[in-house]
Amino acid sequence: MIIHPDFLWGASTSAFQIEGAAHLEGRADSIWDVFLRTPGQAGHDDNAEVACDHYHRHAEDVALVRALGLNAYRFSIAWPRVLPQGRGAANEAGLAFYDRLIDALLSAEIEPWLCLYHWDLPQALSELGGWQNRDIAGWFADYAALVARRYGDRVKRFATFNEPCVFTLFGYGLGWHAPGIADKTALHKAIHHVNLGHGRAVDVLRRDVAGASIGAIHNRQPCYPATEDPADAAAALRLAAYWNDAFPLPQAFACYPPELADAIAPYVLPGDMAQIARPVDWFGLNHYSPHYVKADTNLIGAGFGPAPASVPRSAIGWPVVPDAFRDTLLDIHRRFHLPIYVLENGTAANDVIDPSGHIRDDDRIAYLAAYTAALEQAIRQGADVRGYFVWSLLDNFEWGAGYSQRFGIVYVDHVSQRRIPKASARWYADMIAAHRTSDDPAGPHNRAEAEG
Ligand code: FCB
Repeated sequence: MIIHPDFLWGASTSAFQIEGAAHLEGRADSIWDVFLRTPGQAGHDDNAEVACDHYHRHAEDVALVRALGLNAYRFSIAWPRVLPQGRGAANEAGLAFYDRLIDALLSAEIEPWLCLYHWDLPQALSELGGWQNRDIAGWFADYAALVARRYGDRVKRFATFNEPCVFTLFGYGLGWHAPGIADKTALHKAIHHVNLGHGRAVDVLRRDVAGASIGAIHNRQPCYPATEDPADAAAALRLAAYWNDAFPLPQAFACYPPELADAIAPYVLPGDMAQIARPVDWFGLNHYSPHYVKADTNLIGAGFGPAPASVPRSAIGWPVVPDAFRDTLLDIHRRFHLPIYVLENGTAANDVIDPSGHIRDDDRIAYLAAYTAALEQAIRQGADVRGYFVWSLLDNFEWGAGYSQRFGIVYVDHVSQRRIPKASARWYADMIAAHRTSDDPAGPHNRAEAEG
């Protein structure tokens, strides 16, 4: 099997993590702005008021994407920038920012991938219950319609949600992320209303954008029991239901995983499951590393344990298991029968600028080399993978870790805002170029394998 010449090589970002300009030109608070104001809550007491100042530096950032030879770029719209109260009056200045970004991408021949929701819910809607309020499915559909009509002439790739499992579980179940709620009822309502919002938005995008290519972005990782204790095995099944299946299953097959069905049933009205399971065009995958699950007293009875000592780990302690990535791709292929786009994969590392001004992030290069090799294996074994987007273009605001974790292939000095491509950026650009120019239909990795 080959990496097709039309394969998309991209980079992903999200609005809250890079834009800054948090209170400029009409943007109102999101739940994350508010959450971060509570000292000790999350984010190392950092905030995202300025972040990477991408709002003002988007032209420079698009030029970086182009210089690396990427042919796709994923960003998200900040809902509270374009609809400050979440519904009602739109903010023209906010809408115009994304016009500028999209136009810059198109003139650089980079395909824009627009994600509607990467966690920054307007605070005004959170005060009405946020994802716990069933009406939000309609508010989200109206927001999708605004975005579709404004940008649908130029953007064709639309994702409804980024990692619904993470923002529902961490935001409404465990209280680690905004809005900081830890309540089982809240979690189960949120799961169902996000799914409903997804289905409603798919309908709107189909209706309003000619030629739209639509999907959702799911974080999927194997959930292994951390030990041989049967309690850990049971916990792993519970976590897998919330993490891997609570969204893809209803969206593809109109049913909740058996572990969750009874808990969510009280919120499901007639017709909901058909409304959720609207046909989509692709499966978006974010993948980093497997979970090693331990029984826990938290409200889902499952916690994140350490990986066994034999499992290699990244600089921030995340397990590095490329085979799990390959197997996840093959599993998605078998179960969902959709083209797959990997829309996030990457690692944080302890990046430092050396005396010559370079960032030699060999750990990141090793991670990306191993994971892209696993991607090729999955393709060779039959998975229909059409694109790979690295997380992330820039060092940015990493949610609970604030600026302490650097995921970018481009270093950002958060004081001067200077951007410095790391060694991994060059490695990524060279790898992409090698794939594009290879006269061997099996591609460079395959040739190495044949020789080795
Ligand atoms: C994912 C998020 C993304 C970033 C990476 C490291 O879960 O979608 O915003 O935080 O992890």
